[in-house]
Amino acid sequence: MRTVIEETREIYDLTHRQITLTPAGQAMMAYLWRDWGGYLGQLSWTTGTQLRELARATALAPGKVGLDLCCGTGGIARYLAATTGCAMTGLDYSAPAIDIARRGVADLVPPIRFEHGDARDLPYPAATFDAVVSVDSLVIVPDRHRVVAECARVLKPGGRLVFTDEVLTGPFPRDADTLRALSVYGRLFPQTPSGYRRLLAHAGFIDIDIHDSTAMFVAINRRWAESYRLFEPQGREVLGDKLFDDGLAFFETLADQGAAGRLGQVRVYATKRPG
Ligand SMILES: C[S@@+](CC[C@H](N)C(=O)[O-])C[C@H]1O[C@@H](n2cnc3c(N)ncnc32)[C@H](O)[C@@H]1O
Repeated sequence: MRTVIEETREIYDLTHRQITLTPAGQAMMAYLWRDWGGYLGQLSWTTGTQLRELARATALAPGKVGLDLCCGTGGIARYLAATTGCAMTGLDYSAPAIDIARRGVADLVPPIRFEHGDARDLPYPAATFDAVVSVDSLVIVPDRHRVVAECARVLKPGGRLVFTDEVLTGPFPRDADTLRALSVYGRLFPQTPSGYRRLLAHAGFIDIDIHDSTAMFVAINRRWAESYRLFEPQGREVLGDKLFDDGLAFFETLADQGAAGRLGQVRVYATKRPG
């Protein structure tokens, strides 16, 4: 039997190829992000404008080294390297996503590397990075305490952890249709904002700031659904009918759950305790 991790990886293997390698996927992305700082390669709920803010929060700069955890096809790692001048590593467990991410970065200075690996077991020595970033991915990774502990381990003392994630802001939905719609892109393991605060403090982080971005998250989900409808013929051809219908239901359900105050999005900034 396939594990939850394997099932989620398969859907991302497929989705990264469908969105990144087809004109219809790219047209949908250009439409989706057109009012919000443009498409920077993100397959998530974080706008170009928000990414600029995340980049500032990392304090990455020339001579520093960053890690993008669950980097997908690498747009965010490339963006951080280009805008801050730092060296970047991106890690994701989807091999097709890493293959796509590696295109065109071989000779860049400062270097950008993309590596295949699991967020729960990072293949790096302790105190390797000045900042760890993760965008809208941790919610689908089980064993969150392990991921947070790994982030603390690979960060240098005083290093920054900066991430966005989907969180529980009310009771977890119980009805079968909602649960099914929400698990199309992997089973969700959402923390609460206060749960994140406790988890981070326990792992040795200080200066923990948690900002709510749910209103924008709802707007982005509505726009995802709108772009599905607008590009329906091409979308059905690329995704197939089942994934098209499931994807549309996924984004509509997320928007509804967000508007109803059950699921939301946070931006989290924290510092690994120095010394
Ligand atoms: C919603 S996508 C976001 C990708 C990217 N951060 C972005 O904003 O475009 C979630 C990503 O998490 C990756 N992922 C999920 N579980 C993972 C794990 N245990 N280890 C590494 N990557 C994982 C998936 O392959 C996928 O690329």
